[in-house]
Amino acid sequence: MRFGDCSVHMSLERFRLIRDMVNTRYGIFFADDSRFLMENRLTERLLQLGLDSFDDYHHYLKYHPDGPSEMEIAVDLLTTHETYFFREDYQLRAFANDILPELHRRLASRRRMMIWSAGCSSGEEAYTIAMLVLESGRFRGWDVRIFGSDVSRRMLSRARKGIFQQASFRTTSEEMRGRYFSQVEGGIRINEEVRTLCHFGQLNLLDEDRVVFLGCVDVIFCRNVLIYFDKKSKMKAISLFYDRLNPNGYLLLGHTESLINLSTAFELVHLSEDLVYRRPEVVHGT
Ligand SMILES: C[S@@+](CC[C@H](N)C(=O)[O-])C[C@H]1O[C@@H](n2cnc3c(N)ncnc32)[C@H](O)[C@@H]1O
Repeated sequence: MRFGDCSVHMSLERFRLIRDMVNTRYGIFFADDSRFLMENRLTERLLQLGLDSFDDYHHYLKYHPDGPSEMEIAVDLLTTHETYFFREDYQLRAFANDILPELHRRLASRRRMMIWSAGCSSGEEAYTIAMLVLESGRFRGWDVRIFGSDVSRRMLSRARKGIFQQASFRTTSEEMRGRYFSQVEGGIRINEEVRTLCHFGQLNLLDEDRVVFLGCVDVIFCRNVLIYFDKKSKMKAISLFYDRLNPNGYLLLGHTESLINLSTAFELVHLSEDLVYRRPEVVHGT
């Protein structure tokens, strides 16, 4: 422990060992200049466990029977969970104005649509998608499922609760807020109609054995998640997304993210307000 404060010192060597464990399992990568951030975010946890050095914490993560669940807690403390309703609105307009009508036509015979919000944090993205589906007025009587997944159990329990604070509404219009939310004790609650379309589950995007259980989906939203991954992990996640998408299914990334230098398997689709990726119907030239 350093004199005069309550942080525990993390050596560069120990930082790299913990960082590499997180990276291998979850894809998230911390450059060497993140050492103090990691130190700050994990110190309290280490003290809660009754440990007094990061050497011991590393040993705990690696060898203790609770190591895997402790790793989930560490990742939760280390990652950014920032999210809000109707984030990146131009992309959502492209989804509502171009993708949903196209899916409505193409999936009309099966009347089933599956959408995956991968890395959904506390659920605002999944609920936003559900509101857009309802707003479209096209899918009444369909089997529509929006599956929100995240590695953080803490965020998923917030998502399931469906009660949000003011910060989640920074880009939500009064109209949408009035239509789909109500004020309750402790916050603002999403209404049942939206909620029943959404299901949440814990899933590590790099865990291929569990990702297959999702089955195939028509759209994947994975926004502001892969930016924290190293290249190899991004490539792995994208290849898992490819396998989970139905032919002609869409992949929507965050506005700072692209597949450049990561994958050539998808086609780029120019929509009215955005560029999105699509799994081609037929794979050419194999
Ligand atoms: C910044 S939030 C993005 C939330 C939402 N997609 C949005 O754009 O508003 C990133 C989320 O990705 C999750 N995440 C990071 N690595 C993950 C992994 N390997 N598997 C699943 N979720 C992960 C984090 O827990 C975090 O909640």
